[in-house]
Amino acid sequence: MNILMINGTMRKGSTYAIGKMFIEKTASEGDTVKELFLPKDMPEFCRGCAVCIRQDEKKCPDYLIYMRRLTEMIDEADLLVFTTPVLVYHVTGQLKAFLDHYGYRWMVHRPEASMFRKQAVCITTAAGSGTRKTLRDMTDSLRYWGVARIYTYGIAVGGGIDDSSREKIETAVNNLALKIEHDTSKVTPSLRVKALFHIMRIMQKKTGTTEVDKKYWEEKGWLGRERPWR
Ligand SMILES: Cc1cc2nc3c(=O)[nH]c(=O)nc-3n(C[C@H](O)[C@H](O)[C@H](O)COP(=O)(O)O)c2cc1C
Repeated sequence: MNILMINGTMRKGSTYAIGKMFIEKTASEGDTVKELFLPKDMPEFCRGCAVCIRQDEKKCPDYLIYMRRLTEMIDEADLLVFTTPVLVYHVTGQLKAFLDHYGYRWMVHRPEASMFRKQAVCITTAAGSGTRKTLRDMTDSLRYWGVARIYTYGIAVGGGIDDSSREKIETAVNNLALKIEHDTSKVTPSLRVKALFHIMRIMQKKTGTTEVDKKYWEEKGWLGRERPWR
């Protein structure tokens, strides 16, 4: 299994520690683990030019320097692990900027087929509150990317992980790790993702969003009998 950890901060604090704990419990021999840190690996904000949506994602001004590498890493991964601390009730600005760059991959436009066979885990920590909204920031994108199975874990750790919270976190992380399917050929999309796909398919069939999007769906065969999952 190829595991890709996408960290929404450069700080190796409580959130990163929980992410690493999860990966240690999940990864088996032979698995690969790669890590990305934001903003180092993608320091640009989306300019909102929409050239990715209307024309081609390869025309994004950030494609050659950053997005090509990141996208290749994402597409090769079987399991995506997102981590971010809660900052003012949401993901970090740099993680939001990263997610903004994938607007063209939302199911309403041109979802990447391999997403429907991937698993993802979103992890966040707060001092007190905001984990629910922060997890939602990540799951909104992952669901609309078409990720087959999405799991989340958020916890308020106050000033950091201490002895009293460590046991609770370890139990939760163990349970999370048990949910991961190691035989990637067995990963199928949730009903929710399949339902979303069918709604988007009907829309593309009827009117389409842009010419580029409609052509993409046609070429994939998704307007006919083909589906991006097994
Ligand atoms: C700018 C900033 C904003 C924050 N906003 C919140 C917040 O809205 N709610 C909260 O409970 N904690 C908030 N925190 C605290 C962090 O979410 C918390 O300390 C988290 O565990 C830090 O994770 P880390 O150790 O991985 O960096 C904020 C911290 C910073 C620096």
